[in-house]
Amino acid sequence: MIKKLSVLYWVFTSGSFCHLLLVIALWLCSYQNVVALSLLPKPGHISSTSELPSSPNSANFQPIEISPTMIPHYPFHGEPMPPMYPSFPKTYDPVLTGRCPVNFSVISSITAKTASDCTQSLSTVVGNVICCPQFNSLLHIFQGFYSNHSDTLVLQNAVADDCFKDIISILASRGANSSLSSMCSVKSSNLTGGSCPVKDISTFEKAVNTSKLLDSCSTVDPLKECCRPFCQPAISEAALQISGIKMTLSDNKNIVEAPTEIDTLNDCKGVVYSWIARKLRFVDANNAFRLLSSCKVNKACPLDFKQPSEVINACRNLAAPSPSCCSSLNAYITGIQKQMLITNRQAIICAAVFGYMLQKAGVMTNVYELCDVDLKDFSLQAYGQEGTNSLSETELGS
Ligand SMILES: *[C@@H]1O[C@H](CO)[C@@H](O)[C@H](O)[C@H]1NC(C)=O
Ligand SMILES: *[C@@H]1O[C@H](CO)[C@@H](O)[C@H](O)[C@H]1NC(C)=O
Ligand SMILES: *[C@@H]1O[C@H](CO)[C@@H](O)[C@H](O)[C@H]1NC(C)=O
Ligand SMILES: *[C@@H]1O[C@H](CO)[C@@H](O)[C@H](O)[C@H]1NC(C)=O
Ligand SMILES: *[C@@H]1O[C@H](CO)[C@@H](O)[C@H](O)[C@H]1NC(C)=O
Repeated sequence: MIKKLSVLYWVFTSGSFCHLLLVIALWLCSYQNVVALSLLPKPGHISSTSELPSSPNSANFQPIEISPTMIPHYPFHGEPMPPMYPSFPKTYDPVLTGRCPVNFSVISSITAKTASDCTQSLSTVVGNVICCPQFNSLLHIFQGFYSNHSDTLVLQNAVADDCFKDIISILASRGANSSLSSMCSVKSSNLTGGSCPVKDISTFEKAVNTSKLLDSCSTVDPLKECCRPFCQPAISEAALQISGIKMTLSDNKNIVEAPTEIDTLNDCKGVVYSWIARKLRFVDANNAFRLLSSCKVNKACPLDFKQPSEVINACRNLAAPSPSCCSSLNAYITGIQKQMLITNRQAIICAAVFGYMLQKAGVMTNVYELCDVDLKDFSLQAYGQEGTNSLSETELGS
């Protein structure tokens, strides 16, 4: 347990809240094997992460499940895309096809971020939870960028091939795993709108309530979207409207059964994303798309963390074990522990959230290790009852 918390403390050195949720997804996934937990699972682990929801375009065309638990209120979301990991210095000039008519330096902030989220040595671990959502987001943004000055929302097949190759090679030149495409199950055809019947902007804007779509998705609120989604259903609705499939979202749970219709809806979602990307600044589009992915992992810590100022003061700049740090930490945790009964799974998230808060405030010592804080310190009442609370099992959005 202690080892696990210690690792938890270090996972989030500079990620956004979005990252936090995504990493936690990976975490919960491997939580089944409580004993054998480490930051770098063996390569075989990747197969278990593949069951996680990884892209906004998953085949399940339902609005996302809404967790009754609330995301905790704390103030560090929406930062301008810090690199989550130290970037690897190996960069070289990519060899481009020369046939993709795009000035890639205009989108370099997004490609840089994607490369850093998809670095070779990390991608096997964080692939489906961090790298692929970011890679998908890049492709949506690219599509919107490419089509910005034309009247179509998609790329033609040939140019899609070329641009896709260029994107992969730019990412690889910045250290990303070159098998991103297969790792994230994305192909150049994902840029073409596939079987979606509507690909041009004027038909799109006639078929869809665009002001509603833009209102819902131009600023995705990280605290609200995951609990009471606005953007995700608006995208689904728009995709349905342009798909030509005659059904309404409220008709039935299994709204679409035929595989071809599911494919069409997914392809149409790609078109909707492209339209949204055209309308937003890159950074806003990226935040929105990443948040939509992370909302699927909407299991959150229900505890309310007051600003832990005393802990921060006592534990900052520690070189050696410090009784005052550990006693203020223990007092703080004892306090929040009394708020409510939580499950072990929630405790993991709470421990991660709290560790993240402390790190943000400059506590760079791993205080969980230093002070022997255990997972059960976060979930005393529920300890040993894992699985008895159905909440803990149902919200990973599978
Ligand atoms: C590409 O974009 C960059 C930055 O926006 C700009 O400085 C450069 O001149 C552009 N290159 C071309 C060939 O248009
Ligand atoms: C890239 O990812 C694949 C699949 O996840 C993995 O097998 C491969 O080892 C990675 N490549 C490198 C160079 O790390
Ligand atoms: C599209 O073009 C408009 C103006 O020409 C610009 O404001 C907007 O940022 C562009 N969007 C993308 C995704 O390039
Ligand atoms: C890309 O297209 C394939 C089918 O061609 C689909 O299964 C997959 O979900 C798509 N991925 C994204 C990110 O749209
Ligand atoms: C578009 O949606 C908004 C609500 O977001 C609604 O007020 C408006 O009437 C809709 N417009 C059309 C043409 O349906």
